[in-house]
Amino acid sequence: MTQSDDAGHPSGGHLPGGHVPVMLEELVAAVATDRDGQYVDATYGRGGHARRLLAELSPRARLLVVDRDADAIADARRLALRDSRVSVSPGRFGDLADHLGVVEPSAGEREGLAPRRREPSAGEREGRAPRKREPSAGEREGRAPRKRMPMEPCGVMFDVGVSSPQLDEPRRGFSFALDGPLDMRMDQRDALTASTWLNTASMAEVAAVIRDYGEERFARRIARRVVAERPLETTAELASVVRAAVPGGHAARNTATRVFQAIRIHVNDELNELARGLDAAFDALPAGGRLATITFHSLEHRLVRRRFRQWVRGADVPRRLPVRGLAPGRARPVPGVGNGQRPSPQEIEANPRARSAFLQAVEKEPSAGEREGRVPRKKTQPASGDVP
Ligand SMILES: C[S@@+](CC[C@H](N)C(=O)[O-])C[C@H]1O[C@@H](n2cnc3c(N)ncnc32)[C@H](O)[C@@H]1O
Repeated sequence: MTQSDDAGHPSGGHLPGGHVPVMLEELVAAVATDRDGQYVDATYGRGGHARRLLAELSPRARLLVVDRDADAIADARRLALRDSRVSVSPGRFGDLADHLGVVEPSAGEREGLAPRRREPSAGEREGRAPRKREPSAGEREGRAPRKRMPMEPCGVMFDVGVSSPQLDEPRRGFSFALDGPLDMRMDQRDALTASTWLNTASMAEVAAVIRDYGEERFARRIARRVVAERPLETTAELASVVRAAVPGGHAARNTATRVFQAIRIHVNDELNELARGLDAAFDALPAGGRLATITFHSLEHRLVRRRFRQWVRGADVPRRLPVRGLAPGRARPVPGVGNGQRPSPQEIEANPRARSAFLQAVEKEPSAGEREGRVPRKKTQPASGDVP
């Protein structure tokens, strides 16, 4: 696909809030197959990948952007005001199936106005039951009521983890290098903060999270120290507990990185979210549709690799079934990405936060029925998608 300049994409530069998109060209090239297609950016952040993708697409294309962070959504809404191809759906990408049922924002919503509430009728104000809605002209003519237009994306991209604005804002509590409240919630409406969890979890639980998600060998020592020093309220307090727990202290910086990352993964339920998001995205794709991910943590790389491999090779059929070998694959690797791609050395030099990034992508294959020329069965639309 050729690149147009009309979306004013930031071409690898800094975005609002200081985020530098990682593997910008590579991720967009991995998902973009149709200039007129519908796409999903499941992790909008500050829209680096979204804007770059939009620059590739025609005016007929659509892009649904999702994020669970209120600041990211505010930025996305500003983009949607300027670009009518963009719809915004706040929330978790694990609920992608629900996000795909959203309607385009109204003109009012595009201008930042809250959706208008219907005023109660005089009868309703007096306590009488609401009047039944008259059938629309289309309904009187026997046409079915209009449904919300669900998205049928030909490409879904995920760039998981935290954005630089999240990391660099002390009040969000993601960074051990900046003092702030021990928060770490990506969605500020969630009840569980890092401090609530750390101050109430058992020592075994804290150790398990630090060991499993941080792959940290001093997990037990750190957990013991955390429990001894509680309550912990700030990132500086946690960082100092980690420093004191690690022998020698020389590797304390790396240890603190792993501990903070582990707690963040736990507080935001990141691995479950990723598994649910990938399954929902793959499910929503038609044959030829693509799913591409950038992950930053070995557990995430592995989770994605296993799923993609399973889709490519086909599921192992249980031995007791009278079938030998593997069920047919439902996906193939995306040319150019193969089994995965790392950022170039130049990108890592320019943006050290890219160093652990790993891009993986698959393309969905037609089902056995589609290969035999049978028409794919239409997916059932979510009932909540009905509009009068
Ligand atoms: C690395 S940033 C994405 C940056 C983006 N690609 C860009 O170029 O600006 C990751 C974003 O994903 C969001 N995020 C992480 N997990 C999420 C989830 N389960 N559901 C929705 N958004 C999530 C974070 O809030 C963050 O804004």
